[in-house]
Amino acid sequence: MKSVSTPSFRSALSDTFNRPLRSLRVSVTDRCNLRCQYCMPEEEYAWLPRETLLSFEEINVLVAMFTEFGVDKIRLTGGEPLLRRDLPTLIRLLRQQAPLDDVALTTNGILLKEQADSLYQAGLHRITVSLDTLRPDRFKVLTRRDTFDRVLEGIEEVNRIGFTGLKIDTVAIKGFNDDEFVELIEYGKTVKGEVRFIEYMDVGGANDWAMEKVCSRAEILLKLQRVYGPIEPIEENSSAPAQRFRLGDATTFGIIPSTTTPFCATCDRSRLTADGLWYLCLYAKHGLDLREPLRMKDFATVRDRIRSGWQHRTDRGAEERKALESSRMRGQFIEINELRQDPHLEMHARGG
Ligand code: GTP
Ligand code: 5AD
Ligand code: SF4
Repeated sequence: MKSVSTPSFRSALSDTFNRPLRSLRVSVTDRCNLRCQYCMPEEEYAWLPRETLLSFEEINVLVAMFTEFGVDKIRLTGGEPLLRRDLPTLIRLLRQQAPLDDVALTTNGILLKEQADSLYQAGLHRITVSLDTLRPDRFKVLTRRDTFDRVLEGIEEVNRIGFTGLKIDTVAIKGFNDDEFVELIEYGKTVKGEVRFIEYMDVGGANDWAMEKVCSRAEILLKLQRVYGPIEPIEENSSAPAQRFRLGDATTFGIIPSTTTPFCATCDRSRLTADGLWYLCLYAKHGLDLREPLRMKDFATVRDRIRSGWQHRTDRGAEERKALESSRMRGQFIEINELRQDPHLEMHARGG
């Protein structure tokens, strides 16, 4: 591949709201081995054509160009990223890029037991595992697969190998798991994992979403306070979506209140799909095609698209969704037919 001549300085790029470009979520596959009802309510989907998927070398080249504009944090996502064969090879490539000080992974944990060691050897910094319930029967109903034990075994393996910074992401859904928050925090203590409760979001294929099912930050805190007593917020000055709290015994946990309290004002993240489209917002309906110029070795155009894309960015998708509440217009984000016509609109294509 023609060399990607790197400019000698990294410029911090800001969008129209003065938000820097820092964090890039890279989806390595749109496939998943679960069918969580809030993310992939259907059994079958229109998948991205295989020949359009970026190779590891192509991803690495694109990431290198993103670092020139300020990206220093990469999160590998999917679909389920561990379904992409030989992921440690990509991690090794990324770890050779000096500007990246954080290469993390979000996974459903099913394949972690087998892969945790090679991920660690490849230099992965951090792992976040999605786990919404500790009850095997509920897990099966939610995910429509019977693989609960494998997730727990995967988490144990992460610990055994010596990873630090484990996080456990739980989507809080009223009437489903809102009686398990304490159990989840207690489980987190046993595996040295920080639990983060995520407000259920009306994104992509979440066509079962309804405001009544959202367990808000306030409600989550109330349930925890009944058991743990006063809960102290941790003062932090960061662009991370999670607000963190501390319990009396120093255990920490987080809440990601994207639905009731969007963090768009400080959002420094964007997403690259497995086939090389760049989305500037979780809720964006269109992405910028970086694959086409990349495959033509037209790196100047790739850079121009990144630069001008971010400089013109006005997205604040979660805030706009929230604004619909006052007129009672908040409901399904994208109609099922529209979703079927463009797989990129799905959360599993653009990375959760
Ligand atoms: P670190 O801060 O690097 O640990 O990652 P993170 O906090 O971004 O965590 P993670 O990638 O696991 O994301 C957690 C959850 O936050 C996701 O599952 C989403 O529900 C929500 N989230 C992630 N990205 C976005 C985003 O771009 N916009 C909004 N509104 N919510 C997001
Ligand atoms: N609301 C909140 N979080 C979601 N995720 C996927 N869909 C939704 C949704 N509708 C989360 C998953 C996982 C991450 C990849 O994205 O639970 O933690
Ligand atoms: Fe950023 Fe869009 Fe998410 Fe708001 S909704 S935090 S702008 S990605």
